[in-house]
Amino acid sequence: MDKNSGYRTNVIGAGEVGVAFSVDMDKYVIHETNSLFWDTKGNDVLGATALPLYGAFVSEEKCQLFGNVSGKKVLEIGCGSGQSLQYHGERKASELWGMDLSENQIEKTRQYLTACGLSAKLICSPMEEECGIPEDYFDFVYSIYAIGWTTDLEGTFSRIASYLKKDGVFIFSWSHPIHKCVVAENDMLIFKKCYFDESWYSVSLDESTLTLSDRKLSTYVNALSKAGFVIEQMIEETEDEIMQSRDDNDDFAKKAKMLPVTFVIKARKL
Ligand SMILES: C[S@@+](CC[C@H](N)C(=O)[O-])C[C@H]1O[C@@H](n2cnc3c(N)ncnc32)[C@H](O)[C@@H]1O
Repeated sequence: MDKNSGYRTNVIGAGEVGVAFSVDMDKYVIHETNSLFWDTKGNDVLGATALPLYGAFVSEEKCQLFGNVSGKKVLEIGCGSGQSLQYHGERKASELWGMDLSENQIEKTRQYLTACGLSAKLICSPMEEECGIPEDYFDFVYSIYAIGWTTDLEGTFSRIASYLKKDGVFIFSWSHPIHKCVVAENDMLIFKKCYFDESWYSVSLDESTLTLSDRKLSTYVNALSKAGFVIEQMIEETEDEIMQSRDDNDDFAKKAKMLPVTFVIKARKL
C-alpha cells in the first residue's frame, strides 16, 4: 500500500499478474518498452478486447453507444488486432482508420482486415504524437483498452478532439481504476493499492516488460473537459447476460459482480 515502496500490486486483465516496480516516467523509454511488448508478445499474452465487447463484461450490443455507423468515418486509437475495425466495416462505416504504437499490431490489423475483405488506412505511431491523421474529419474516434497506455492523457485527448468533426463522438473503454486496486484472495476482495496513486510502474509478464500508470476516474473526466468534450454517458455496469455465461468458480466474474472492472465513456466534441 505504501506508494513509495519499490514493489507494487499490479492488476492486468483478469487478476494480479507479474511483479511490478515503480519507475520514473520517461516517454521515450515507455514507448520503446511497450512497443517491444506489443511487437513480440501483445495479444498472445494479454488476449484481445474488441467490439462488440468494451471489456470482459460490457458490450456494445447492450450499451448501443455507437448507434448506426453506416456512412460514417471512424478512427480507432490503438487498433491492436483489428477486430473492432472489422466490426465497424461490417456495419458499413464509410472509412476505417486505425493507429497503433506497434508495427506488428498494425500488420496484424492489415492482414486480418484483408482476410475479411475490408481495407483501412493504418498508421504506426504513438497516440501522443502528430502522425498525419486529418483534422475535423471523423464522425467517431474510439479506443478499446488502449487509451490508458498514453504517457500524456491531456495531450492525447486534445489530439483526438482535433481529429473529430464538430459534434463528433469519442468513445473509449479502459480498466476501471477500482479494479486495479482490489485483488481477489481466498474468496475475499482485498483493497491492495492506493486509488490516488498515479505513479508509473513496470511489470514483467512472460519474460517481457510493460510500463503504465493507473489514473483516477476524475483524471479522465477532467482531461476530457479540458480538451473540449462533454460527457454524454459513462458505463460502469457488469452485464448480467455476460455474467450468467461465466463459470461460478471464475474469480474474475466473482469480482465483476461486486465492482466495475471496466469503464466506458461516450463524449461529444463541442
Ligand atoms: C490491450 S491492446 C487493445 C487493442 C485492441 N482493442 C485489441 O484488443 O486488439 C492495446 C493496444 O494499444 C497499443 N498502444 C500501446 N501504447 C500505445 C501508444 N502510446 N500509442 C498508440 N498505441 C499504443 C498497443 O500496441 C496495443 O495494440
